Amino acid sequence: MIFTVAIDGPAAAGKGTIARALAAELGFAHLDTGLLYRAVGVQALHDGRGVIDPHWSAELARRLTPEQLARDDLRSARAGQAASKVAVLPEVRSALLDFQRRFARREGGAVLDGRDIGTVICPRADAKLFVTASDEARAGRRAAELGADHATILADLRARDARDAGRDAAPMVAAKDALLLDTTDLSIDAAVAKAVAYVKGRL
Ligand code: C5P
Repeated sequence: MIFTVAIDGPAAAGKGTIARALAAELGFAHLDTGLLYRAVGVQALHDGRGVIDPHWSAELARRLTPEQLARDDLRSARAGQAASKVAVLPEVRSALLDFQRRFARREGGAVLDGRDIGTVICPRADAKLFVTASDEARAGRRAAELGADHATILADLRARDARDAGRDAAPMVAAKDALLLDTTDLSIDAAVAKAVAYVKGRL
């Protein structure tokens, strides 16, 4: 069976939690596509050539291996910022496209979460969700997760959202046919239950 679930939305809105829960519930594979951009961004930083060299960043994207997605420094705010800087580059995005599309079409079903899954990567996905939450709620969750300062995290999220929504290449936007899920006032369980009910209704 081939069935693709596309989940998009800004950072720390609950996409990842919902995607993991959906994949577990349905027995589908899950791909956190943010990790691809984080891995390229972190490597571009470490290589000391700067994250803004489009050709080198695209080369890093083409050479990306599964092992690089398992690095433990990919979750940091610094990696998130680096990711959103390489993510504006069309060359980087196109280098990562095939891998994501192949993952989406794998036998047994797939859940992908990111910014452009329902719009660019899988415009014909079987189920699409756009997960949001207020800036304050998102910053609170991320600050608790990273053990970091709320105001710093809030500024970081806003900078990243502006870059993600404002870029020309595959900007973050809800697909017209996506279910909008605002998790500001929802518990994790309630948000997951809504997502599961929606996707099961489309199976
Ligand atoms: O989801 P996460 O916060 O890990 O994503 C890190 C960054 O990677 C995002 O801020 C965005 O710039 C980029 N990204 C993207 N397209 C995706 C997933 C992530 O541009 N599908």
